[in-house]
Amino acid sequence: MDDGFELQLIDALQPVRGFALAQGLYHLFSSGIYERIADGPRPVRDVADALELDVARTSGFLRYLANENYVALSGDTVSLTGKGRQLAPYRPWYELLVGGYAQTFQQITDVLQGKGYASRDGRMVGVGSCGMSAFDALPLVRDLMSDLPAAPASLVDLGCGDGTFLTSLVTESDRLTGLGVDPFAPEEPTAPGVRFVRSGATDYVAEHGAAPGAEPDPSRMFVAAFLLQEILEQEGRAAVVGLVRGALRQGGHLAVVEVDHRPADPAVMRHGLGQAYYNPYYLLHVLTEQRLETDAFWQDLFADAGATVVSRRVADPRVDSTGLEIGYLLTRNTGAPGHPGGTRGEGAGE
Ligand SMILES: C[S@@+](CC[C@H](N)C(=O)[O-])C[C@H]1O[C@@H](n2cnc3c(N)ncnc32)[C@H](O)[C@@H]1O
Repeated sequence: MDDGFELQLIDALQPVRGFALAQGLYHLFSSGIYERIADGPRPVRDVADALELDVARTSGFLRYLANENYVALSGDTVSLTGKGRQLAPYRPWYELLVGGYAQTFQQITDVLQGKGYASRDGRMVGVGSCGMSAFDALPLVRDLMSDLPAAPASLVDLGCGDGTFLTSLVTESDRLTGLGVDPFAPEEPTAPGVRFVRSGATDYVAEHGAAPGAEPDPSRMFVAAFLLQEILEQEGRAAVVGLVRGALRQGGHLAVVEVDHRPADPAVMRHGLGQAYYNPYYLLHVLTEQRLETDAFWQDLFADAGATVVSRRVADPRVDSTGLEIGYLLTRNTGAPGHPGGTRGEGAGE
């Protein structure tokens, strides 16, 4: 036996340690334990009783997390460590990548063998994605809205997930109403002025098409954050072109957020967020019914849909400095004199 075997074994098992830990941390949140102990130490029995959990198993789970230094056990009391407390804002990334996609990564060989797309937990994808968007895509859409000639009166959020993205935009304004469209949209309104339809986006836009010859309502804005990548693989490029065209027949503007597809770009893959987030994110798109594309691809598609890019921005570099998350504010290319018809990517800001 090689003297270095055990050291190499420890090294070889670090991904397995990470695998178990990612699941453990996701369940620390989803079980409700994290919230229960966020305010200070609690007896393990009280935590388990309040959440209707088995005490002995909960103790074992907390012992595991204590060994990874996320919680501290003192006698029969549990508390978050500093490392555990620092995790709070990053919960949505666990909800998306573990809650939404853990089952997806279990299906890699089946997908490679051509047995169709891998499944995912669609509800948790919406919950995690909207939670993450609060840090990046939501401020990006707010910035795009600041490029509008006038504030909109109504929003239609296509692929609205759990609705929190739309709800934030509506509740922070005193004049906006909002409609969210998603197969996993909430069943009930989340706030006054916010309602939801459980539907596919292309069906919704086609069913609510403007009357022939009608002008788009300039006070109505559509949003499609991380949706066009879904429609592209589900229904094809022509359907995405139809969706963009249809939305811009009904509303004055459409804000799109997409992720630039650059998995072979060393500048991306040597970036810390490239390795921690985008590499697995790109992989899960290989496995599921979604297709990421490049900035140039989307700009060509928008032109084919008769849309003009009024403004193009990227997410706040304090959250994501890769420049991969891109927001486009689109309007219909009327070809009118002085209108920037046909211009592509000549946005106001970056
Ligand atoms: C990555 S999430 C984005 C959620 C949210 N827009 C955000 O910014 O975080 C993609 C969402 O698109 C939804 N979706 C997938 N296919 C769809 C379709 N054909 N029509 C409408 N929504 C769809 C999914 O259910 C999911 O909630």
